[in-house]
Amino acid sequence: MDKDYRAVNRDLWDERAAAHAASPDYAIERFAADPAYLSHVVRFDLPLLGSVDGLRGVHLQCHIGTDTVSLARLGARMTGLDFSERSVEQARTLAAAAGADVDFVVSDVYAALDVLPEAGYDLVFTGVGALCWLPDVRDWASVVARLLAPGGRLFLREAHPVLWALDDARPDGLVALEYPYFERPEPTVWDEEGTYVETDVTFAHNTSVEWNHGLGETVTALLEAGLRLTGLVEHDSVPWEALVGQMDRRSDGEWRLRDRPWRLPHTFTLQAVRPG
Ligand SMILES: C[S@@+](CC[C@H](N)C(=O)[O-])C[C@H]1O[C@@H](n2cnc3c(N)ncnc32)[C@H](O)[C@@H]1O
Repeated sequence: MDKDYRAVNRDLWDERAAAHAASPDYAIERFAADPAYLSHVVRFDLPLLGSVDGLRGVHLQCHIGTDTVSLARLGARMTGLDFSERSVEQARTLAAAAGADVDFVVSDVYAALDVLPEAGYDLVFTGVGALCWLPDVRDWASVVARLLAPGGRLFLREAHPVLWALDDARPDGLVALEYPYFERPEPTVWDEEGTYVETDVTFAHNTSVEWNHGLGETVTALLEAGLRLTGLVEHDSVPWEALVGQMDRRSDGEWRLRDRPWRLPHTFTLQAVRPG
């Protein structure tokens, strides 16, 4: 590959930002229409998230800002960070339309400390398709730990590494391990048209460069960065149709394997605090 992984992935995300903002799946117009509206990701998070009222929060890899604005609506003073300028433009437009006072910055997540204050946050929120874009989970954990103020907490809901390791939906219906579960130096490179939301847009940039990180690797990286694990829950649902044709949509908008969903950890929520 001629381009570095960041440039390849940024092209992919820049191109998808406007299409995502226009897709019914992100329901952008509902934020302006209903001042109480929250993204379905944050609505799912609420029981484990608890109150964020008054917290200084940063949302890493915030994409078009739907979850960032939702957290602001719950009373957090939010900053969103993403390396895709086009995504951040959409996020700013959304925040303005939603009447939410949110700061957005354009930065690589590994360079977050160049643009955000060290120990400046009570809450680091991230996930749902974020860690897979990063080659080294230890470097990510160190950024998270440095952003958190003493006593501050990480809230991470992410696709489960077992889900990322599965073969795509197979005609024989088998759920089969095909891709790396553990973090490996070499990425998995995909070349796939389309995206995870409903859209008619045809994209020119379809290559993505990704890494998986085992659950133990993520936990260990956070512990080694000095955080204390306070919660780890595995879920039997995921916010998008991860195995196309093999999942059913529930009334809360989450997707679950149709056949014996209890075989598969779909996503997980991890919480950790920086000791005070
Ligand atoms: C799947 S989206 C996150 C989705 C988000 N949870 C949501 O549903 O809105 C992944 C985001 O990570 C961002 N991203 C990928 N690699 C990054 C990096 N190295 N630094 C900062 N942002 C990155 C992309 O630009 C994209 O907006």
